[in-house]
Amino acid sequence: MQKVVVLDFGAQYGQLIARRVRDLNVYSEIVPCDMPAADIAAMEPSAIILSGGPASVYAPDAPELDPAVFDLGLPVLGFCYGQQIMAKTLGGVVGHTEVGEYGPATITRVAPSRLLDGTPAEQTVWMSHRDSVAMVPDGFVITSSTGVCPVASMECAERNLYATQFHPEVRHTTYGTQMLSNFLFGVCGLEPSWSMDNLIDSLVDDVRSKVGDQRVILGLSGGVDSSVVGALCAKAIGKQLTCVFVNHGLLRKGEPEEVEEVFTKQFDVDFVHVHAEERYAKLLEGEANPERKRQIIGTQFWEEFFTVAQRLAEGGNPVKFLAQGTIYPDIIESGARKTGGKASTIKSHHNLIPFPEGVSFELIEPLDHFFKDEVRALGTALGLPDYIVWRQPFPGPGLAVRIIGAVTPEKLEILKNADAVVREELDAYNARLFEETGERNSEHSCWQYFAVLPDIKSVGVMGDERTYQRPIIVRAVESTDAMTADWAKLPYEVLGRISSRIVAEVPGVNRVVYDVTPKPPGTVEWE
Ligand code: XMP
Repeated sequence: MQKVVVLDFGAQYGQLIARRVRDLNVYSEIVPCDMPAADIAAMEPSAIILSGGPASVYAPDAPELDPAVFDLGLPVLGFCYGQQIMAKTLGGVVGHTEVGEYGPATITRVAPSRLLDGTPAEQTVWMSHRDSVAMVPDGFVITSSTGVCPVASMECAERNLYATQFHPEVRHTTYGTQMLSNFLFGVCGLEPSWSMDNLIDSLVDDVRSKVGDQRVILGLSGGVDSSVVGALCAKAIGKQLTCVFVNHGLLRKGEPEEVEEVFTKQFDVDFVHVHAEERYAKLLEGEANPERKRQIIGTQFWEEFFTVAQRLAEGGNPVKFLAQGTIYPDIIESGARKTGGKASTIKSHHNLIPFPEGVSFELIEPLDHFFKDEVRALGTALGLPDYIVWRQPFPGPGLAVRIIGAVTPEKLEILKNADAVVREELDAYNARLFEETGERNSEHSCWQYFAVLPDIKSVGVMGDERTYQRPIIVRAVESTDAMTADWAKLPYEVLGRISSRIVAEVPGVNRVVYDVTPKPPGTVEWE
């Protein structure tokens, strides 16, 4: 399989480069910037891309690369820090420009360039730098400049070395994709032949060769990421995979049945449904503090999980590996990987899991290179149903953080039923928007939507009778990453239907309100 290796110099979104390459149907993987040239060669890549990075090339601890990378005879493309390290390593000079450039800039072509072929002589690119190349190495020509940056791009076509000070991987660089295509297909002569099926094959091979004939355990939450890992490992190792589904009784209506159906009927794995509902109910009894609730639920999950692992070991099936649905944005968020170093990722994840004394697993994280939408595409290609692949985010502690105050069976029943109505109506609303726009996350579609049960009652009237019952809060937000969110501007008619259905169909509720708070200042969840 043709492959492009991205050396990561600590770019904030280094994976974005690998992602853009994959978008052009060429497989790409990110590796630490200091990987020895011989190890890179062993990966048999067709080309190398050097990412950007926050350091100055002359800083004492500036990330370096093995200079022999340039002797592998492979085409190399560098962006930003990647251009500077290429220049410095090959005998050029990097200096400070008077003023940094941050944001859009206009480059002007100053020489013919294979990289810039088919793009305008003047065009907008995205810059983010203070240092820049002051003198190009021997054999290089400057191909574009800005008023501030004399070497906006350079190349040595003879050795197939190309570099830009700007960031072609960022969408704000208008012709960035064209430049990347020029490199991949023009310079490197690659074929745009990589597809999701190739990816599945290679991930399956990776899992098989790592696992051998050992046992793997996976905690299924019902969410997208763990389900996709489950489906992938099922394809790779079948019954050597034990999927543990800890049912804490705090999932949404119908969800436990859906998970069980998929992982017993569709995939041939060892599926363990742990009915822990009563143990959780007991532990949570009377607990109103949101953080304590979270803590109890999280700790008990691992208790239940390790009990299954222990049982397997006692039955002669010791577990060697723990599979996890870590995806690339998780690694960014946890700040675990600063220079693409795999070891640091594993360590930090281990630290998050309270392994009991004497228990140790090796981690398998087959999705840790991929973005959410790639994971979804993978899930679909593996045959997972849309209701799992397109499932909205759901907090680990489940409905416990949507019941304000202590959880009781009565409140849980009310919330599950009210939430089912909210989801049914807003699933339908989103489906209508999808039909109209062709986009799953179009401008007005809801990203996350659910019901919340506050710890109060209010007066109402039903028929001839006064009621004193609970209200339901409807929360529906538009967002892309949950860092910020806005309340969804739902049509009144949709809100009206949700309200009348909840009051009519859910006993114990006499009022429905809609939360119109953006984040910030509100959070998405109420606890
Ligand atoms: P907030 O409420 O912080 O939520 O605006 C942002 C996103 O995170 C989810 N969330 C959680 N997920 N455990 C989780 O796994 C939690 O304790 C938790 N709290 C919030 C929330 O649903 C939203 O998508």
